[in-house]
Amino acid sequence: MSTDAGEPGLPGAEDGQVALTTGRAIAAAVARELLAPLGDRYRHTVNVAAQAEELSDAVPPEDRELLVVAAWWHDLGYAPDLVQTGFHPIDGARYLASKGHTPRLCALVAHHSAATFEAAERGLEVELADWPREEGPVPDALWTADMTTGPGGERFDYAERLSEILARYDQDSIVGRAMSRAQPSIQAAIERTNSRLATA
Ligand SMILES: [Fe+2]
Repeated sequence: MSTDAGEPGLPGAEDGQVALTTGRAIAAAVARELLAPLGDRYRHTVNVAAQAEELSDAVPPEDRELLVVAAWWHDLGYAPDLVQTGFHPIDGARYLASKGHTPRLCALVAHHSAATFEAAERGLEVELADWPREEGPVPDALWTADMTTGPGGERFDYAERLSEILARYDQDSIVGRAMSRAQPSIQAAIERTNSRLATA
């Protein structure tokens, strides 16, 4: 399996069931190839993708494929060969854009889990602005999947996830400050996802 997943428009394309299954399989294989060497990062990704599958009812049927693919790929920017800015949401989005993936998918990765706050801490607002931030069920579900999965793939609630992040990073570090400031946005995304699930 090559890391070249460059089939423009694959995720999110209105292709039928066969293409949907193919898209998930390709996303999983690319994530495995790029992230498995990183150990826990890959275990986290596998479980974020599994969570995204479970949260699928919170998004419209035509967006479920996109949600799961974005979950598989949200942390690709941690792969050492993909590092450009050192901020993994942007680096992952740039990689996916270079492979011809849709701007919508790239934007979901670029902005995942309230990346705006950490981009500001890092002085990368201009770079992040290459992708418009989507608001709605798909980013909400993606953020929920990521923020309720621990660094080694554990199933956490958001309070547990936030406290483990703040324990790993100094409170006054870039990540510590960003995740504290992002807390209301992430909490709101999780609540919207839960209420969509409850009425699905
Ligand atoms: Fe993640």
